[in-house]
Amino acid sequence: MNVSLPVLDRVEAGDREEFREAVLAGLSRTPRAIPPKFLYDARGSELFDAICELPEYYLTRTETGILADCTPELARLAGPGCALVEFGSGSSVKTRLLLDAMPNLAAYVPIDISRHHLDATAARLRRDYPGLRVEPVCADYMALEALPADVNGAPRLGFFPGSTIGNLEPHEATAFLRRARTLLGDRGAMVLGVDLRKVPQRLHDAYNDSAGVTAAFTLNLLRRMNRELDATFDLARFAHDAFYNPLEGRIEIYFRSLAVQSVAVAGRIFTFAEGERVHTEYSYKYDDAGIAALAKSAGFTIDRTWTDPARLFAVVYLETAP
Ligand code: AVI
Repeated sequence: MNVSLPVLDRVEAGDREEFREAVLAGLSRTPRAIPPKFLYDARGSELFDAICELPEYYLTRTETGILADCTPELARLAGPGCALVEFGSGSSVKTRLLLDAMPNLAAYVPIDISRHHLDATAARLRRDYPGLRVEPVCADYMALEALPADVNGAPRLGFFPGSTIGNLEPHEATAFLRRARTLLGDRGAMVLGVDLRKVPQRLHDAYNDSAGVTAAFTLNLLRRMNRELDATFDLARFAHDAFYNPLEGRIEIYFRSLAVQSVAVAGRIFTFAEGERVHTEYSYKYDDAGIAALAKSAGFTIDRTWTDPARLFAVVYLETAP
């Protein structure tokens, strides 16, 4: 790599190389799969924001409603003077619900892999909450070893909303929560948003919206490969394919080839059979027993669970098991 490139260009070159390697490895495997994190380029992030507003995608608005109701109790459980540690993007309305309910936080520590996103979030929050200490950490929260030393004295409250835990396979979800448990320490607690199992049609509709935004989100990955990896995907010859797998309790999302076709990607040729699918996401749905088992597997106990009246979604308050 040319080390004289400006920092941002170097980051982009590194990101592109990681994307290239992941795509080439994922398309060379059987069955084919590309990790979900690559769905979130600038356009993918915009499309995901649009998904959150869809009538069929109940998750965001349901969780926000639960949080709006439960934050007073949540703040009481956490107690004053803790540091709020958010795993992943922290620019949303949900974070502000917690910040509003917890005026005596020792600090807010957003962890995000995107420096750009993190800096913008930190600047907005410093402006809107002048008394709040904001200590951003630019890192992959799946691999983070330690939090900033200056929040060492305060008890820590983790926050992982949005049912992002559902995009992790069960062993990854346990590994993530174990890491969070270590980072949060023995006096730590964790607020976790989890999408619940429900009538399959409701789940199906949430990932097959009538406006086609979720399809555009999946197919944007092909656009990204065309742009960044000199790929030759014809978007009209692939389709978004999402369905609920009741045995595994998860939504499975793929892009599916509508014909036998060959596509160039980063100088290599890949041939797709008609109907062949490339996996892009799982979205696991939990029931109470599954949440309890997950918490236990990572050294947490469930202190409190809040749900909406229709039990679509749960917000759980986890405490570190002694
Ligand atoms: C980010 N995550 C929780 C979303 C979900 O529901 O699994 C991602 C998503 N993919 C398609 N629609 C939403």
